[in-house]
Amino acid sequence: MPAQMNWTEIDVQAEAILKTMSLKQKVGQTCQITVEGILRFNPDGTLPLPLQVNGEELSEAVQTYKVGSILNAPGRALPRTEWLKLIQAIHAPYVKKEIDIPILYGVDAIHGANYVLGATLFPQEIGLAATFNVDLARQFGEVTAVETRSSGVPWNFSPVLDLGRQPLWSRFFETLGEDPKLASVLGASIVKGYQGDLNQSKLGPDRVLACMKHFVGYSASASGRDRTPAIVSPRDLTELYLVPFKSAVEAGALTVMINSASLNGMPGHINSHLITDVLKNKWGFKGFAVTDWEDILFLDRVHQVAASHKDAIAMAINAGIDLSMVPLNPQYKEYCRLLEELVLEGGVPMARLDDAVKRILRVKLAAGLFDVPSKKNKTVPITLQSESAVLAAKQAVSESLTLLKNEHSVLPLKPNSSILVLGQAAADRRFWNGAWTHTWQGRDSSYFSTDISLLKEWQQRAQTQQGKVDYLVGSSWSESTGIPNEGAGLTPQNQKSIESADVCVVFVSEWPGTEKPGDEENPFVTQNQMDLVHELKAAGKRVVVVLMLGRPKLLGSILDDADAIVHAYLPGEHFTQPFLDKIYGSADFSGRLPFTYPRYPGRWEHYDHANSETIAKDNSGNGYNPLFDFGFGLSYATWSVDASSISADTLRSADTVWLEVRLRHNADRPCQVTVPVFGSRRNLPIAQRGKYLIDFQKKWVPQGNSALFRFPLSVSQFEFSDYNGNWTQARGPIRLDVFNSTLNVYLEP
Ligand code: BGC
Ligand code: BGC
Repeated sequence: MPAQMNWTEIDVQAEAILKTMSLKQKVGQTCQITVEGILRFNPDGTLPLPLQVNGEELSEAVQTYKVGSILNAPGRALPRTEWLKLIQAIHAPYVKKEIDIPILYGVDAIHGANYVLGATLFPQEIGLAATFNVDLARQFGEVTAVETRSSGVPWNFSPVLDLGRQPLWSRFFETLGEDPKLASVLGASIVKGYQGDLNQSKLGPDRVLACMKHFVGYSASASGRDRTPAIVSPRDLTELYLVPFKSAVEAGALTVMINSASLNGMPGHINSHLITDVLKNKWGFKGFAVTDWEDILFLDRVHQVAASHKDAIAMAINAGIDLSMVPLNPQYKEYCRLLEELVLEGGVPMARLDDAVKRILRVKLAAGLFDVPSKKNKTVPITLQSESAVLAAKQAVSESLTLLKNEHSVLPLKPNSSILVLGQAAADRRFWNGAWTHTWQGRDSSYFSTDISLLKEWQQRAQTQQGKVDYLVGSSWSESTGIPNEGAGLTPQNQKSIESADVCVVFVSEWPGTEKPGDEENPFVTQNQMDLVHELKAAGKRVVVVLMLGRPKLLGSILDDADAIVHAYLPGEHFTQPFLDKIYGSADFSGRLPFTYPRYPGRWEHYDHANSETIAKDNSGNGYNPLFDFGFGLSYATWSVDASSISADTLRSADTVWLEVRLRHNADRPCQVTVPVFGSRRNLPIAQRGKYLIDFQKKWVPQGNSALFRFPLSVSQFEFSDYNGNWTQARGPIRLDVFNSTLNVYLEP
């Protein structure tokens, strides 16, 4: 059952507050500014610590302009105590009754509380998706909520629910992969972790508001460049891109952020059909919609759909925007002035403004912001990176690591072997974490604690087994430009280390980046990293490649040169132990690709392609030819199907038919496995995807034993979108693929 908020009481309260509000107050509630606008900076632009709130700027914003929301980290991560002081200073005018409505503060805590120094950093969403583990997604949400809220911040701009189907897009790593079912199930689970059980009428004191991002179609950019147009058919919108948002709304998500780019020619921020008709009216979303960064200004400056800033404000608010991330100072003052004028002149109906404000008030009430903390019940100090938090992060890394290739049994490594580790990413944690780590782009390493070292831990582990571990940087990145330095980075002096190694383990990475600064022209792994792997191979070495990439990058010569390939995604801070456990074989791999890994630069393929895409140049059925399929992932154990069955041949509405499969492995320890079930439909009036993910389960299977996986099937799982984007019930033959078994069922709804 979806954990929905009980709105009745909150509605009454919001209505009562609204009645007391002046126009200025209402307008201010729809305005969000960035924290930089209320802080004092050093003359050189750096931030003094302890932070200094600029009292005049703060009171001008919240008292004069009645601004209702503040966002962002001030350019860098802060100690938790600094966050608490900042949030208290911002909350103070409300506590002192200088303002009537509390300020809502929001940050991007997208892979843990990444702007709180010393917080637990999890894998980025793409890695979390590779775990296919619903419970871990929830634990990630819970830990992130606790650590974010313990810094005083009640609102998290996460999860990203955009689908990762365009590998050039700089924010691919922020997604839960390409599949709507996987992203829905995991996305809803993250939302529940963030917000907790909403059956009470308030968010718990250790929870944060979730924000579904970025509604909708942002990730489908045709060019792959950030904030550029996407063209998505009504069918694909319904069957793919809207699905995770709908599921997050059902899970109770209380806020949504709108797509900064345009979809089918219409900028996200003026799309009243999607924001108002679909999200709010059809799906019953009761929370509020916030713009993305400067996006109302974008409407006239960039999209050029508005004649002026004032027109842009009217268009956005009338389309259903409730809160505007203006967010700079002094631009916000113009926003407030213009919106006030618009309401007085009738360009924005008062009823629309009231609705926006009511939505914001509801969320503030739901978050408990109106409750002034008494001295006794201040935020309970919690330990960042508590034992259970670290355990969850390690488990997430462990279950995300995906084995893509393993020839000549190069893995597991023998305990006593001599290992040469190469690549900047082995020793530089910026590449483990990616963007949104301590700073926006994640390129500043000065905020990392010093007590984590993969190489040191690896060396210690190897020594206890008479093994040896050496390190060479090899190929690297230019610190000033983020462009790869040329060549493999090996010198004649390095030859001895190479010669004496039994196995080389090469870390292949990408320069951290997101949004515009992360725009990427080259779909390949960089040439210098290919060169490095190639030179080692040419020297006769066994090579293991570890991909620390937030997306599928074309592997070029690495595919053949590497004996083994492990995808680590962007694993965050707790990479070391799970990684060493896997490559030495004390634990098995269970991660699976949450995307289709492309083989060719001219072809972005998806596992759920149409049947026509399977026809090759030679007319054979081999036209769909990715490097690795969605859901692919090897393990040391060999898995086999003992039996599979379906409880009835025909599925009628109101029926549940059970699909069962019994799996066994041959390992002498318990092993974990993900079982995806794919369905395919045909003989319907619109050409169907060849197959699509219907359901999945992940389980531990005891040693020497088998486990039964049971999947309930009902007709609703076989709905498809018609040409106009309307869900329609399928009928006729359905093929079900689970592991290597194929089963059939006939739909007679
Ligand atoms: C990003 C959002 C983010 C917001 C606030 C925007 O530029 O697109 O994902 O939540 O900034 O930092
Ligand atoms: C936002 C960016 C913005 C930057 C400025 C980030 O959190 O997402 O859009 O430009 O902050 O600090």
